[in-house]
Amino acid sequence: MKVLILYFSLGGRTKKVAESIERGLNFSDVRFENFDYIKKKRDFISEQNEVMKGDLSSFKYNEDIKDLGDYDLIFLGFPTHGGRPATVFNGYFEHAQNVDGKNFIIFNTCRFSIGKTFEIMQAVIEQKGGSVVKKRAFKGFFKIKMSKVEEFVKELNQEFMKSS
Ligand SMILES: Cc1cc2nc3c(=O)[nH]c(=O)nc-3n(C[C@H](O)[C@H](O)[C@H](O)COP(=O)(O)O)c2cc1C
Repeated sequence: MKVLILYFSLGGRTKKVAESIERGLNFSDVRFENFDYIKKKRDFISEQNEVMKGDLSSFKYNEDIKDLGDYDLIFLGFPTHGGRPATVFNGYFEHAQNVDGKNFIIFNTCRFSIGKTFEIMQAVIEQKGGSVVKKRAFKGFFKIKMSKVEEFVKELNQEFMKSS
């Protein structure tokens, strides 16, 4: 089973969760990738519209993550910004190829409310023919409980062992 874990993290919380998932998963072939926010000329909020429409020039990332053809399972982890997924999710998915028939696990971090984050992610994924097989939000105003992430990983390992 070929797995991709792809995340975005502005402040490090989603990164910590993604790293814990990668560490704990019992799959042999896992690729770990992220979007690095680099552009500081405009502020983060004012460039959101362009990012949303697919302008990813403010991010450093491996171009080949746009093609999902190789993967059997794809993890996408994005924080909530204003009740939605961070706009780089939409910008990325505008370009995503070979989504049809793929299984996705979506995860999130937020402080107080996930809002429509998962609804939006699921709708965008399904529009391209993908399926969301699992989703998990990790909420914490000051801190995310890493024990919850470990429980999630345990659950995933058990489920995927059962189905293989
Ligand atoms: C621009 C912006 C908007 C945010 N909006 C929300 C929100 O609507 N709901 C929420 O619970 N947290 C919100 N947050 C908090 C982040 O979702 C939360 O801190 C998340 O864990 C950050 O992940 P990161 O450290 O990986 O960037 C917002 C943060 C930023 C920077």
